[in-house]
Amino acid sequence: MIKTVEYLDGKVRLIDQTRLPLEKVYVDCKTIDEVANAIKTMVVRGAPAIGVSAAMGVSLGAESIEADNFDTFYSQLEDQCLTLAKSRPTAVNLVWGIERMKCVARESKHLSICELKNKLKQESLDICKEDIESNMAMGNFGQTLISDGSTVLTHCNAGALATAGFGTALGVIRAAVNAGKRIQVLADETRPFLQGARLTVWELMEDKIPVKLITDNMSGFFMKNKKVDAVVVGADRIAANGDVANKIGTYMVAVLAQKHQIPFYVAAPISTIDLSISSGEKIPIEERSEDEVTSLNNKRITPEGATAAHPAFDITPNDLITAIITDRGIAKPQYTKSLKYLSKK
Ligand code: MRU
Repeated sequence: MIKTVEYLDGKVRLIDQTRLPLEKVYVDCKTIDEVANAIKTMVVRGAPAIGVSAAMGVSLGAESIEADNFDTFYSQLEDQCLTLAKSRPTAVNLVWGIERMKCVARESKHLSICELKNKLKQESLDICKEDIESNMAMGNFGQTLISDGSTVLTHCNAGALATAGFGTALGVIRAAVNAGKRIQVLADETRPFLQGARLTVWELMEDKIPVKLITDNMSGFFMKNKKVDAVVVGADRIAANGDVANKIGTYMVAVLAQKHQIPFYVAAPISTIDLSISSGEKIPIEERSEDEVTSLNNKRITPEGATAAHPAFDITPNDLITAIITDRGIAKPQYTKSLKYLSKK
């Protein structure tokens, strides 16, 4: 299995997703700020992978603190988390990972500082392990929705590279394949960062799962010609009413899927559900540099001085979503009820 993120002695090792698939190189982060920078520059990306890396980053931060009492330790830990928490705004898993680590620190205030640091390291390793387990569970639930012989379209990369392993949307596909179903994947290239072309295609080819790359403007053509049986995507944040923030272009795919009566599934762990946000309108959408749009693989493709827009995510309203596959079961409309039920389960 691909190691997206790994906690080694005193460092967090990340596979550099800005350079895949042409180069397989790793970035070693030795400080919490280096982890924040890796998240910001998308060396590591994908909501669950961001959450796991952030938790490990908090542990690195904790290791660097020299304090002889809990209050000094905790106040320095909180300060250290500020830059990390701002590294990317849309995926709720980032703040979820940081808050879970801070909560464990508060609950362990009776421990010595050395024991506390070990406890935080262990917690980040547990978060990593739980993420893989939750993807496996999601896969088992989700694969029941995918029939043998299906062609499944996916957008962006919600695979092993976007998580600690196995993936969410690609986890559902992997589980269907493991269950003996013959599955063909259509992968949207996902401009401008090309997560589909570079990462999804690479991952699936490594696993020998049949995959065909299409450009983002081809999905309507394939749907109209009855070449897509289901759509499965991941999520960066899901509001209490089931509105889903995911990679820019997801909304367009969902509208097309509804037009062609193709089921549109979202696969995400419970940690991606943000019950504090009532609807998608309140989810912050990251604006990234226009250079990522005016260039392709760091090569300028537009005239000098051309301007570009770059919202990195969009919101798919709940009425376009057939079901939300989680690690605790499958949520169906009305999502306000079903998501609340699964979150509390
Ligand atoms: O900008 P990215 O590459 O971090 O965006 C990733 C996505 O939109 C994924 O679909 C989402 O995080 C789910 S990953 C399991």
